[in-house]
Amino acid sequence: MAMAETTLAVAAPVLILLGPPGAGKGTQARMIEEKFGMVQLSTGDLLRAAVKQGTDAGNRAKAVMEAGGLVSDDIVIAILRDRLADRDTEQGVILDGFPRTTRQAEALDLLLAEREQKIDAAISLEVDDGEMVTRISGRFTCAGCGEGYHDSFKAPKTAGICDSCGGTDMIRRADDTAETVSSRLAAYHAQTAPLAQYYADRGALHRVPAMGAIADVAERLDAIVTATRG
Ligand code: AP5
Repeated sequence: MAMAETTLAVAAPVLILLGPPGAGKGTQARMIEEKFGMVQLSTGDLLRAAVKQGTDAGNRAKAVMEAGGLVSDDIVIAILRDRLADRDTEQGVILDGFPRTTRQAEALDLLLAEREQKIDAAISLEVDDGEMVTRISGRFTCAGCGEGYHDSFKAPKTAGICDSCGGTDMIRRADDTAETVSSRLAAYHAQTAPLAQYYADRGALHRVPAMGAIADVAERLDAIVTATRG
């Protein structure tokens, strides 16, 4: 009698990118997404979309984001829970900018437990405060596809034209001002930096130096991401 074939379901990997504003979370998340077919979930992007659409959550988040503070846990957790319900997250996710507080980290543990998933790696991108200001002040993004650029470190091949989609509408973020950056940095040190210990206690933390060229940082992340995929 033929044996029934069984397929072992491999749980989709869940990665967290921790790091201060401008550390390169979005840049690296997009590269991992492209290379490994996982999905980038950026709470910053989800909140900016909510602000643009004028949803209730977006209207409540707008002033806080412009001041460089953290949006309330309830709003961000609800936005993330909704996004995690989308089918594409079954390919594995890279969380970019979430969690940012201990309460968010605990909520994430519960959300993943409901899906019989766990965090495979929490990667902390480590950069100097001075470098962050340089990175943020030169940043711009393609409005069409969201590809990120930098005046000095990652300029489009042809000035003003997006390498990815050919779009010509480039935007700079409203919260990328000198004053807001220092508030964002303060919020990071007070509320988000302690999460490194939260994940170290669970054996999931990887500290990765994020100074140096974008490609060099990507290479450092490759081995960690590959290991999570079995
Ligand atoms: P969010 O959008 O998450 O912003 P952030 O954390 O401040 O991070 P950034 O997007 O500024 O930086 P990044 O690390 O992604 O760097 P990037 O790759 O772009 O959040 C915005 C706001 O939303 C928050 O302030 C808060 O109000 C709210 N919010 C979001 N999530 C929340 C949450 N969970 N809870 C509460 N509130 C929340 O790189 C920066 C630049 O540097 C780019 O130009 C890039 O090309 C360049 N670059 C990248 N890597 C390198 C490198 N190695 N060398 C040289 N240049 C580089």
